[in-house]
Amino acid sequence: MASVLSGHSVRVLSGMRPTGRLHLGHYHGVLKNWVRLQAEYDCFFFIADWHALTTHYENPHIIEESVWDMVIDWLAAGVDPNTATLFIQSRVPEHAELHVLLSMITPLSWLERVPTYKDQQAELKDKDLATYGFLGYPLLQSADVLAYRAGLVPVGEDQVPHLEVTREIARRFNHLYGREPGYEQRAEEAISKLGKKNGKRYRELRTAYLEQGDAEALATARALLDRQKNITIGDKERLFGFLEGGGKIILPEPQAKLTPSAKMPGLDGRKMSKSYDNTISLREEPAEVERKLKTMPTDPARVRRSDPGDPAKCPVWQFHEVYSDDKIREWARAGCRSAGIGCLECKQPVIDAVLAELKPIQERAAEFARDPVVVKNMITDGCRRARDAAEETLVEVRASMGLAYN
Ligand code: TRP
Ligand code: SF4
Repeated sequence: MASVLSGHSVRVLSGMRPTGRLHLGHYHGVLKNWVRLQAEYDCFFFIADWHALTTHYENPHIIEESVWDMVIDWLAAGVDPNTATLFIQSRVPEHAELHVLLSMITPLSWLERVPTYKDQQAELKDKDLATYGFLGYPLLQSADVLAYRAGLVPVGEDQVPHLEVTREIARRFNHLYGREPGYEQRAEEAISKLGKKNGKRYRELRTAYLEQGDAEALATARALLDRQKNITIGDKERLFGFLEGGGKIILPEPQAKLTPSAKMPGLDGRKMSKSYDNTISLREEPAEVERKLKTMPTDPARVRRSDPGDPAKCPVWQFHEVYSDDKIREWARAGCRSAGIGCLECKQPVIDAVLAELKPIQERAAEFARDPVVVKNMITDGCRRARDAAEETLVEVRASMGLAYN
């Protein structure tokens, strides 16, 4: 029933830290997902350069170097700047403004107990992360999301605690600033302004959410409200709040949309990650791709060509799971167990598939790299669109915090 209304006005927001080259792990884990989402939602994707600074403040040049390469990799992977809004965090100062405003109402303990705070400090021992900025990392992320009133935030498992803080902060903000007398009656009046058909639809969806917890109905009702041109922003917020049974919702709570867990293995069988030095970058030279795959380890039991092996103990097999069809997989599995094929033979279809996947990406990347002005203009345009969207929220936020001196 909710599919009658497309998800087009549901906002999706996600960011990526510019701390190095993108690799196949990013492509399979994040970018392909973004490309799917942009067809369905109103997507905002941004370069989280301030977030990168929280951990790279001592050598910020890597950030500068990575930003444009990253944008080019996004574009090359199929992220479409005409469909999605692509921008750079630091070019939208509203993120910083909202960060400082939210900091006023954020209890220190909420930030201190975010697991990534202590975990990352322990993990990145070579860096001094006992900074104000690093403690505020999840709050800055909250500001990113809330500035756009995003409904869905595609992230990996590790980011879920940050989304949880975002939701708590939104709730606290609405609780502090969204109370008003005569709320229910004002909400009823606002419903009548939706018109007969939309009013009825709104009530149905609200009931479905409040009585059955139907999250899709909630998303659909929000989309319906988003499309209303003839009601005031105040009424809109009232109706957003009324949907969930509470007060006025100035900052709606986002949902994490878990990225289907990346099955992309690295060259050593662990997850592909820069810190393990087991990556194939999206711009890796074909000869280098071939070399890396040819030298990657296999089942250690296969010392000689005549020794049978076990695909379950081989990182190459995980590549077959990503890149090969049933037929090739069957051939590899049988050939490995019977020592019917050698490891280099087994790797060949994987090499071919990775090269075939990278070819069009690299061609597109080369085109954009040749035309940096085009890329910069796209981003300038995206930053402007992002600012307009964030500004709408900030107008409300400033007013509710007593800062609208008109
Ligand atoms: N912290 C995220 C990461 O490391 C990046 C990020 C910053 C982000 N702001 C965001 C992701 C807002 C989603 C929404 O992956
Ligand atoms: Fe791995 Fe293939 Fe060699 Fe078996 S034959 S060990 S699956 S590379």
